[in-house]
Amino acid sequence: MKTQFYTATSLDGFIATEDDSLEWLFSLGELSESSYPEFIADVGALAMGSSTYEWLLRHADKVIEEVGSAWPYTQPTWVFSTRKLPAIESADIRFVSGDVRPIHYDMCKAASGKNIWIVGGGDLAGQFYDAGLLDELIVQVGSVTLGKGKPLFPRRALSPALRLTEVRQMGASMVELRYQVNNSRVE
Ligand SMILES: NC(=O)c1ccc[n+]([C@@H]2O[C@H](COP(=O)([O-])OP(=O)(O)OC[C@H]3O[C@@H](n4cnc5c(N)ncnc54)[C@H](OP(=O)(O)O)[C@@H]3O)[C@@H](O)[C@H]2O)c1
Repeated sequence: MKTQFYTATSLDGFIATEDDSLEWLFSLGELSESSYPEFIADVGALAMGSSTYEWLLRHADKVIEEVGSAWPYTQPTWVFSTRKLPAIESADIRFVSGDVRPIHYDMCKAASGKNIWIVGGGDLAGQFYDAGLLDELIVQVGSVTLGKGKPLFPRRALSPALRLTEVRQMGASMVELRYQVNNSRVE
């Protein structure tokens, strides 16, 4: 059972534009042709921040077109926010706030042996990293630069915090990098 930050990023380290657009990503390939189907099959619980959740709310039409329902996940999902956000009918969502450690404990119980996916954003993944709870970073680096935007992982992770364990090219548009996080690191 691992806690994984799995995300796509631009070559210059942004997961969305400043105004939360992902249009740059959709031209890079199909989810079904990526590692996603294999990855999601092993996920038992998800965590995301409010910007990521609100993106899904705003793009419900696109999500329905892709997966047939307004909420794309069957696994229980923890949404981090200090605000009151609208729920999605029939989706298993728990709204939470604050320290990630007790929430991670609850997520592990719910995941019953499967992996935990930190969907994003980068700072939320960083909060799990700070607490020594992040085991893997799996990033699909797109052949695009954005100049500015929402950061991939706004932390200083100096050697030997990350160990590159796999590199997989996906055509001319993407490369997937997998890093193991050293949680016994000294900082
Ligand atoms: N490229 C990709 O594959 C990919 C993957 C995932 C996401 N994305 C996109 O990337 C963008 C990420 O946005 P973002 O960087 O702003 O990150 P985010 O994590 O989605 O949202 C950040 C917000 O979540 C809330 N939050 C975070 N930690 C919290 C905590 N411990 N307790 C309470 N609330 C907490 C705060 O907002 P409030 O308290 O104000 O609610 C915070 O401002 C989104 O547009 C998303 O759609 C892209």
